[in-house]
Amino acid sequence: MSTSKLQIKNIDPLKISNICCIGAGYVGGPTMAVLANYCPNIKINVVDINSERIDKWNGELNELPIFEPGLDLIIKSVRKRNLFFSTDLRGSIKSADMIFISVNTPIKTKGIGAGQASDLSWVESSARQISKFAKGHTIVVEKSTLPVKTAEIIQSILGSYEDLDDEKTEKKTFSVISNPEFLAEGTAIENLKFPDRVLIGGEDQFAVDALKNIYLNWVKEEKIITTNLWSSELSKLIANAFLAQRISSINAVSMICESTGANIKEVSKAVGTDSRIGDKFLDSGPGFGGSCFKKDILNLVYICRSFSLNEVADYWEGVLLINDWQQERVYKTIVKKLYGNLNEKKILILGFAFKANTNDTRNSPSIDICNNLIKEGASLVINDPKVSEKEVFHSLNIYNLKKEQKNITFEKDIVQAANKADAIVILTDWEQYKNLNWEQIYKIMRKPAWVFDTRRVLSIETLKELKLNVWQLGNGSND
Ligand code: UDX
Ligand code: ADP
Repeated sequence: MSTSKLQIKNIDPLKISNICCIGAGYVGGPTMAVLANYCPNIKINVVDINSERIDKWNGELNELPIFEPGLDLIIKSVRKRNLFFSTDLRGSIKSADMIFISVNTPIKTKGIGAGQASDLSWVESSARQISKFAKGHTIVVEKSTLPVKTAEIIQSILGSYEDLDDEKTEKKTFSVISNPEFLAEGTAIENLKFPDRVLIGGEDQFAVDALKNIYLNWVKEEKIITTNLWSSELSKLIANAFLAQRISSINAVSMICESTGANIKEVSKAVGTDSRIGDKFLDSGPGFGGSCFKKDILNLVYICRSFSLNEVADYWEGVLLINDWQQERVYKTIVKKLYGNLNEKKILILGFAFKANTNDTRNSPSIDICNNLIKEGASLVINDPKVSEKEVFHSLNIYNLKKEQKNITFEKDIVQAANKADAIVILTDWEQYKNLNWEQIYKIMRKPAWVFDTRRVLSIETLKELKLNVWQLGNGSND
């Protein structure tokens, strides 16, 4: 079904009064909370098939299913005012003028495109539910990061099911538009309140205007970019690819720094002060994680290969290769510095989330690094201020490990955790790791004691005074 055919002008764009968001995750939850905050006259139902998650959204403010600074305060003011969380997909879809699809789109694990293409099962099931339960004209907004041309799939499903409704008498129509989310976890509320830009792609001007009018409640018109559907879908992939490429570039330079005696902090500053380059996203670290970067680049590579653009595909694949290598070399450095043997050695891991200020562990560099240290025989103690013990064990697949590899514990108290540790590895840039009492920690560690600072949050000079061996990523004056 073409988008132009879907153009039915029976909704006043200024009067979208009921929104449904399918998916109450890291994107759907915060996005709808901010939207509800700025649009008190719109009723918003956020629905999810995961009832445990919905219960948490309706539960205690300090136990929301996702941790995001500032989110609890917004939820407090809008929940049950005009923002509602439930598992009632049918009712919420039925009453909605506009439906956002914010479901998960992980990489396919089997079949054609396994390990590269996105698994669109959840998008497809959302589209089927919409087509079944929607009434009248409904604007469907792609919010999840999706491969280019996904809107075509959604349109096709919505079109095919048009007549299969239980209330066949009423004609239902749909407009599909794309409105990718650019929020970064940990700063989601800030990003949603003050976006660099809002991107809306679609052929149906009426639907585009309807969404634009909602954003105009708090975003200046000049920040709202409208494009065709495919440009919008592709722009999201490319924005993430550029960001990831920048991190791989600086991580590649961190290796050169270690070999040459340069310091990545100084190089980043010197390079980033060029206004054409800019100083953001130049922090080298253990490699990027999160739900988007790897998936989006894999998608981009997949698209390129499907158009036989193999050189372009190789170019973007390089970004992932450097990222994998950065994670690998961190663990190899640890093994090397600890005399090539981790048996009967205790290593304290500081940070399991893929970045600070989130409890998300998806693709966290900590997962691969920990798994490799476990394989080498290390006994691990893991600390993270926001990730739960359950989530850490789940991410490490601890229940499927061999008995001798299950030497992993979770500890909230860092000093307790450091007792008799041979090494401490900082993997997430949490604020609390920047000001630890290293004198106290050094005393209780087994000697020779090591600290591996992959986020460069420590002052290396102070630590060296304590005779602590320090390895700092990208620092050419390492021990
Ligand atoms: C990213 C994009 O930034 C966001 O626009 C998009 O909507 C979703 O994907 P997110 O993954 O939440 O957001 O976090 P981001 O801040 O981009 O960090 C991703 C990873 O890169 C983290 O592991 C982070 O530690 C790492 N990173 C980031 C660096 O290693 N160095 C940097 O300079 C910046
Ligand atoms: P993201 O980071 O993209 O928000 P999440 O995994 O945090 O991804 O959230 C996606 C949410 O979408 C999950 O809570 C999942 O249960 C929900 N979901 C997936 N498919 C459906 C569906 N068909 N109907 C309702 N909710 C769904």
